[in-house]
Amino acid sequence: VNSNATTIILFGATGDLARRKLYPALYSLYKKKNNFAVIGVARRDYDHEVFRQNVYESLKNHSNPENDAEDFIKRFYYYPLDVKDTKAYDGLKELADQLNDQFDLQGNRMFYLSLAPEFFAPVTLNLKQAGLTTNTGWKRLVIEKPFGRDLESAAELNNSIHEVFEESEIYRIDHYLGKEMVQNIQVIRFANPIFEGIWNNRYISNIQITSSETLGVGERASYYDHTGALMDMIQNHMLQMVALTAMEPPSRFVTEDIRDEKVKVLRSIRPLTDSTVANSVVRGQYTRGTMPNGDVVKGYREEENIKEQSMTDTFVAAKLHIDNFRWAGVPFYIRTGKRMTAKSTEIVVQFKDAPKRPYFNNFNDLQPNLLVIHVQPDEGLSLKLNAKKFSTGGGSIPITMNFSNSNNDDGSSAYERLIQDCIHGDSTNFTRWDEVALSWQFVDYIAEAWKERNIPLDRYEAGTMGPASAHELLAKDGHHWWPLTKTTEK
Ligand code: BG6
Repeated sequence: VNSNATTIILFGATGDLARRKLYPALYSLYKKKNNFAVIGVARRDYDHEVFRQNVYESLKNHSNPENDAEDFIKRFYYYPLDVKDTKAYDGLKELADQLNDQFDLQGNRMFYLSLAPEFFAPVTLNLKQAGLTTNTGWKRLVIEKPFGRDLESAAELNNSIHEVFEESEIYRIDHYLGKEMVQNIQVIRFANPIFEGIWNNRYISNIQITSSETLGVGERASYYDHTGALMDMIQNHMLQMVALTAMEPPSRFVTEDIRDEKVKVLRSIRPLTDSTVANSVVRGQYTRGTMPNGDVVKGYREEENIKEQSMTDTFVAAKLHIDNFRWAGVPFYIRTGKRMTAKSTEIVVQFKDAPKRPYFNNFNDLQPNLLVIHVQPDEGLSLKLNAKKFSTGGGSIPITMNFSNSNNDDGSSAYERLIQDCIHGDSTNFTRWDEVALSWQFVDYIAEAWKERNIPLDRYEAGTMGPASAHELLAKDGHHWWPLTKTTEK
């Protein structure tokens, strides 16, 4: 059965993610005629009404709640729960059964865990024990990151949830996979023969993927200080973008074939070793500095609830090699960090230079062709070319062809797409276990080397694009980071 109605049991219902992203996303899905009821689960002692007011408030911050918002929030129920209290799940089941009948939800259940990972295993086991997972329709488990802290803990976690859910029922969220332009990578590549034909080491010099943020660690200090950019961004979002940019065309556009191709890329990433980490990975941490808007902001170690001597990485840049026929010799440079110059995610494909002789010896402005996929804040695509300088005289000028889709996405539409996919039973844009495992493997090497080998933590001033070493990483190869082309602040 694959029907669109469902009970959504949301753990972490009073959390930040739920308020900022999930409720606005659910409101849009409600407007699109999805039939669901939500049971918000959290520790706080709310009742249905207080919870509904909270949901309503969160809509106000993101979209314009209309008259139908009244009916929408009536679909929200609250169940206070200490997730380790096994007995208390019986009442949750009762409520779920009741709502199933009341709203005609066809026995379908989505369990959405927006919780710290140490709770994933106990919650799923308790759900099973209380009989919540022997519902009559489909059951699906949505889990937020972080999925473990390293390969070993992720595998353990995976084994426990597999005692209750099949792999095909597990939806591991990587919200970057819900972003419009991340989903667009495959279309841009495979629907345009002019790109696919040159998408290889004969024509491409290097690829640069940046995801920069202006925010600091904010209120998430306790999570962030034992996570860091490597685990927070590289293990998931950044490696997923690498995989999509580098993968072979799948034999069919179906879930498992696409995932298989992504896995092949992740498996082809050259493993780093203790010694290569030192040359190809930069870890940075921000210090006090001035943001582009003039705000003077604290250094990471001065932030509240951060250890004074914290060695946590708030910035990572790395050079990857993908050892396969398509990419041999093409470096992939990736970087991500907090408190950088702009909030921006871009994928820059730099093509090889045209031969200068015999025609272009005197063309000082000749630039490499760049294809830039703008993931955010603007969504679009640009292609940088060379053209003859207009009017008299010789020489060339760089010109840019631009496509931009301005739809004012506040970031909830990625979640909307992903939740809709889950309701439809489509897990293409979620990560399969082997993708997660390979990503951890790669990240583990780096984390180990950092721990074992006294690799320096390079400081960078807030409001800059990272430490000098991140620039040297490319300079060593005769390259440089292309400046971000879109820097609209949101
Ligand atoms: C999350 C990280 O996964 O992604 C955050 O935990 C980060 O630290 C966020 O800020 C960035 O997402 P986006 O959609 O704002 O680029």
